[in-house]
Amino acid sequence: MKTALYTTLALATVTLVIGGCSNLERSRDIGNPQVQGKTLAMQVCSNCHSMDGNSVNPNFPKLAGQQPDYLVAQLKYFRGHNRADPEGSEYMWGIARKLTDEQISGLAAYFSEQKDAPNVAGDPALVATGKAIYENGIPKEQVAACAGCHGQAGKGSGTFPRLAGQHKDYMIKQLYVLSQTNQRPAGAMMTSLVHGLTPHDMVAVTTYLQGVVLQ
Ligand code: HEC
Ligand code: HEC
Repeated sequence: MKTALYTTLALATVTLVIGGCSNLERSRDIGNPQVQGKTLAMQVCSNCHSMDGNSVNPNFPKLAGQQPDYLVAQLKYFRGHNRADPEGSEYMWGIARKLTDEQISGLAAYFSEQKDAPNVAGDPALVATGKAIYENGIPKEQVAACAGCHGQAGKGSGTFPRLAGQHKDYMIKQLYVLSQTNQRPAGAMMTSLVHGLTPHDMVAVTTYLQGVVLQ
């Protein structure tokens, strides 16, 4: 009797351990530090940002090919409730709440290595106006050239985000957040210069950027 009971217990333990391992590779548990960042990227983030980081909904930012340092910084801001723009807090606070630094590095590595898919090209007249703003700024309004920080082709660098190929709607939403609030902790660099942009300038520059395809 006793032996049979021990055998059953031992078997149950083995099953639990094996079951636990394979589940870890498909886990959606954003509160379990054992789950790899890459697994969470594919199981959780993909629901909104897509498996390859090329989100379909234009309100959900594309993460494919984004700068890894920028992704790490933003995930830590969401985790610490420092990035408090309405949709950032609504969608990202709960998800980022228990991520470990290691998971955040894994998530950033995964998405930054995905290939950015070309986005919708815009009206040529708007694109021309937007490209001029992006490359030269608007000197009479004291708007610095966007290229000075985001790179000549919009690739970004370090914690300066990539903008090339990003969704226009998401970028316009963020330009308002950056100009009218201090809900983004590292947004101060953007605030004064966005003040010099008219709503039409914002549409033009983001229409241009959405269509940029990096080689
Ligand atoms: C339910 C939908 C949803 C899920 C799931 C989701 N996100 Fe997001 N995420 C959003 C939305 C919406 C925004 C834009 C928030 C805003 O406008 O500030 C966002 C913003 C971000 C940003 C900021 C991007 C930028 O350009 O500043 C990062 C980074 C990010 N998410 C990473 C992740 C990661 C990593 C996961 C998985 C662990 C994840 N998201 C899961 C909806 C989601
Ligand atoms: C002095 C440097 C600097 C200049 C010039 C600059 N930016 Fe930025 N921009 C930043 C930084 C830094 C951030 C990220 C802020 C953060 O981490 O919250 C940013 C963020 C953004 C974002 C949000 C991206 C995202 O994924 O959420 C957009 C859109 C943007 N900039 C557009 C522009 C445009 C358009 C111009 C030109 C009119 C411009 N920027 C000029 C430094 C700059």
